[in-house]
Amino acid sequence: MRKKIVAGNWKMNMEYTAGVSLFSEVINMVRDEVRGDQEVVVCPPSIFLHSLGVLAAQQQNVNIGGQNCHQKESGAYTGEISAAMIKSVAAEYVILGHSERRQYFGETNELLAEKTNVSLKAGLKPIFCIGETLEERNSGAHFDIISAQLAEGVFHLDAESFANVVLAYEPVWAIGTGVTASPEQAQEIHAFIRKQIEERYGDAVAANTTILYGGSCNPKNAPELFAQADIDGGLIGGASLKSRDFTDIVKVFNS
Ligand code: PGA
Repeated sequence: MRKKIVAGNWKMNMEYTAGVSLFSEVINMVRDEVRGDQEVVVCPPSIFLHSLGVLAAQQQNVNIGGQNCHQKESGAYTGEISAAMIKSVAAEYVILGHSERRQYFGETNELLAEKTNVSLKAGLKPIFCIGETLEERNSGAHFDIISAQLAEGVFHLDAESFANVVLAYEPVWAIGTGVTASPEQAQEIHAFIRKQIEERYGDAVAANTTILYGGSCNPKNAPELFAQADIDGGLIGGASLKSRDFTDIVKVFNS
């Protein structure tokens, strides 16, 4: 069966010492909480990955991930970080296509397909983000937007490669706004995403794909969200910066 994952996206927050403390606290607090089919993933700024990777190695089912990578394998791209570099510091995952990357850095589905390819080639599992803006939802275009993000970003993969992709539905209007999608709204889209996967890859792949919800997820709303049939955990921004809030979300799986 599919994995349940709570992933923290620290974005451009924390400095080194505070980041190491936060991650150490998280590891200690989730030690007895993550069971066999569950995983905790922390995605810090890339400069902290190596140190956090050393700590993560001590704890089964706790892993680290990058927040982005470059679309090329290597070369003259000053200031950029490759998927293979991220993998080489013991990271297992990389977030791709976060709405902030799409919005502020102009990342398109086409570019993200390239990033997906280099990530998988390097042995990283992409946490591939999709989701509509408020205008798109209000105009009723949300299903089409999500279909296109899937079709152009990840559905070029064969089934074997796609099995390494985690999806994250993050409605842009819910990210960092304090407005969460209702459990029903989120479940409606998650079921739609799973159906799209089923049409592309068949039942078994669809049933095994982890689909996370992201957008103002916190310890209060996580229980109802995670109780939905097609929601397999969360991608957590703001609440991942506080060890108690983040681990309380992790604990929702077993409560
Ligand atoms: P948020 O961010 O939890 O702060 O809304 C989620 C995300 O951007 O992944």
